[in-house]
Amino acid sequence: KKAVLAFSGGLDTSVILKWLQDTYQCEVVTFTADIGQGEEIEPARAKALQFGVKEVFIEDLREEFVRDYVFPMFRANTIYEGEYLLGTSIARPLIAKRQVEIAQQTGADAVSHGATGKGNDQVRFELGYYALQPNIHVIAPWREWDLNSREKLLAYAEKQGIPIEMKKRQGSPYSMDANLLHISYEGRILEDPAVEPEESMWRWTVSPEAAPNEPEYLDLEYERGDIIALNGEKLSPATILTRLNQLGGKHGIGRLDLVENRYVGMKSRGCYETPGGTIMLRAHRAIESITLDREVAHLKDDLMPRYAALIYNGYWWSPERKLLQVLIDESQQHVNGHVRLKLYKGNVIVVGRDSQTDSLFDPEIATFEDDAGAYHQADAAGFIKLNALRMRIAKLHQRN
Ligand code: ARG
Ligand code: SIN
Repeated sequence: KKAVLAFSGGLDTSVILKWLQDTYQCEVVTFTADIGQGEEIEPARAKALQFGVKEVFIEDLREEFVRDYVFPMFRANTIYEGEYLLGTSIARPLIAKRQVEIAQQTGADAVSHGATGKGNDQVRFELGYYALQPNIHVIAPWREWDLNSREKLLAYAEKQGIPIEMKKRQGSPYSMDANLLHISYEGRILEDPAVEPEESMWRWTVSPEAAPNEPEYLDLEYERGDIIALNGEKLSPATILTRLNQLGGKHGIGRLDLVENRYVGMKSRGCYETPGGTIMLRAHRAIESITLDREVAHLKDDLMPRYAALIYNGYWWSPERKLLQVLIDESQQHVNGHVRLKLYKGNVIVVGRDSQTDSLFDPEIATFEDDAGAYHQADAAGFIKLNALRMRIAKLHQRN
């Protein structure tokens, strides 16, 4: 018996580690990833060794996360329930995939995670595990143990000699999750959706009121729907998102306070900061506005909520998500060019877009000044009259 645990090094997953060893008498392999949560991951090694863990995996997955998960998702302009940019949802499939790979590599027969039995994350992790390793054994301690209050958890930690220092770190009054795309806050005082969160909760952005009085201009270069350069400088995906987070944070961009519908059936209030993602969504729609055919763009928009729900509900590794991705990726072939933006007090304002190679915007045709030949105004009369035909017939039959 051997289990691969998604281990942050914090109090909760340390308790889980000990609990797995005691309850299942199994060997635990820990897996800790840097996906841009902004905390050192190396200290997790010493913590794991302290519990007698022999195989410790510590990995920097930031580039893979942005290149293979965040960017593909943004090609679809994905938003859940009109607002949520899926910052937590999109990170789970990568963690699940690495856990299963590590299980295969170390000969482990089980995987375990620290998500509760009431949320989306358990679903996302476990759908991923099963999709990638059909016979894997899943251990979800929060659904099994009776440590279902903070006090019981702390008492257990005390009894098991889990270092005090780890307990002190749990000072935040929120349940938080962070990666390169976002930071989220849920629970505790946010559980009253009528009450505004206190200003001190927000960690990545200044308030729009406190943002600089001078706007900042930004040039983004796109290649096949992905940003490849910022202000003329070619950068890696993770570097681009890191820089956009800094710029957005400085200008008060990307705060969200939302009541969302969890897959498990309940409504939940969450607050999110997604500064770079908020910029990326705006900019991507701008470059698509000149490079995509109208019906292709509208079809993408029709499919987007489906795609968003697949990601939110944990179906990243499903055949239908992969099929949709092929369509989305194919649509991005011509999404090349530049977008210029102005960042100002919480706003992302598009001020220019162009594509030397792929623009479908034809000033000769669009101009109100002169008729160049491709478009005859007289043709519009027949176009309108035939489109009106069924409504004329309905009226003649007293239908409306
Ligand atoms: N409600 C968001 C989601 O379902 C954020 C979840 C945050 N997860 C966490 N473990 N704190 O995607
Ligand atoms: C959790 O329950 O572990 C966090 C919230 C969620 O997964 O939706």
